Amino acid sequence: MSDSSPAPSPQRALEVARADGGVPVLEVRHLGRSLRLGSEQLAILKDINFSIPKGEFVTLMGPSGSGKSTLLGCITGLDNPSDGQVFLNGVDVSRMRESELAGIRNRTVGMVFQAFNLIPTLTARENVEVPLYAGSWRGSPSAQAEELLGLVGLSHRLEHRPSQLSGGEQQRVAIARALATQPPLVVADEPTGNLAAAQGREILELLWDLRERMGTTLVIATHDPNIAAYATRMLQLADGQLVGDGPGPRAETR
Ligand SMILES: Nc1ncnc2c1ncn2[C@@H]1O[C@H](COP(=O)(O)OP(=O)(O)O)[C@@H](O)[C@H]1O
Ligand SMILES: [Mg+2]
Repeated sequence: MSDSSPAPSPQRALEVARADGGVPVLEVRHLGRSLRLGSEQLAILKDINFSIPKGEFVTLMGPSGSGKSTLLGCITGLDNPSDGQVFLNGVDVSRMRESELAGIRNRTVGMVFQAFNLIPTLTARENVEVPLYAGSWRGSPSAQAEELLGLVGLSHRLEHRPSQLSGGEQQRVAIARALATQPPLVVADEPTGNLAAAQGREILELLWDLRERMGTTLVIATHDPNIAAYATRMLQLADGQLVGDGPGPRAETR
């Protein structure tokens, strides 16, 4: 052992994450989503299958219209699959009643959107507190919000409203909100799509850093090749089908 104590390696973080159970944080089986348009049945997602162990940094790539947002919606419960199943931490959420689902969703999956989706009349701190009140967090919501905003580098912006923050800062608040209940999975839909390149890189570095520190599993839809450079795992959609599933540039050797 040397005197300096380096941060745990990604390899180590992943080993720790895998050690607690081995159940995939996300599993999708034979997922289909179709819509009826007039007399036609439009297949938006077709027989999607994949399984994500804890600690992966997954990019979901594919051209506009390939079904990325629809797939994320089926995972988070904003949308309902027409066929197949979605398992969060081994629990089948695809056939669950809305009342049951809300609680599980609140504890299991955090969401980050392209347009940040913060509540404009609330401060940064209050925005992060919202899921804590909704999910009856046991500790102090205010203290937890403050800690998370510190984690994303916004300790000096606690009482600012979204309109008083830059785009990059707003996305940091949204990330803190997504992490508020300490969910094992965070899903992001084009999180850098509304940001300048430099701010986008900062957000990616932050997400990577949070994954290493908290063991959070990330699934990020994007068509930005700069995001793909961070992936440990890459999923590729085309025309509603999964056409690629393999290791990314940052995959750890097993
Ligand atoms: N409510 C809807 N009605 C009709 N078509 C839809 C609806 N939602 C999505 N689609 C279609 O489904 C396809 C996939 O959309 P989407 O999941 O948003 O793709 P992506 O996020 O990859 O751009 C697109 O062709 C889109 O037009
Ligand atoms: Mg989309």
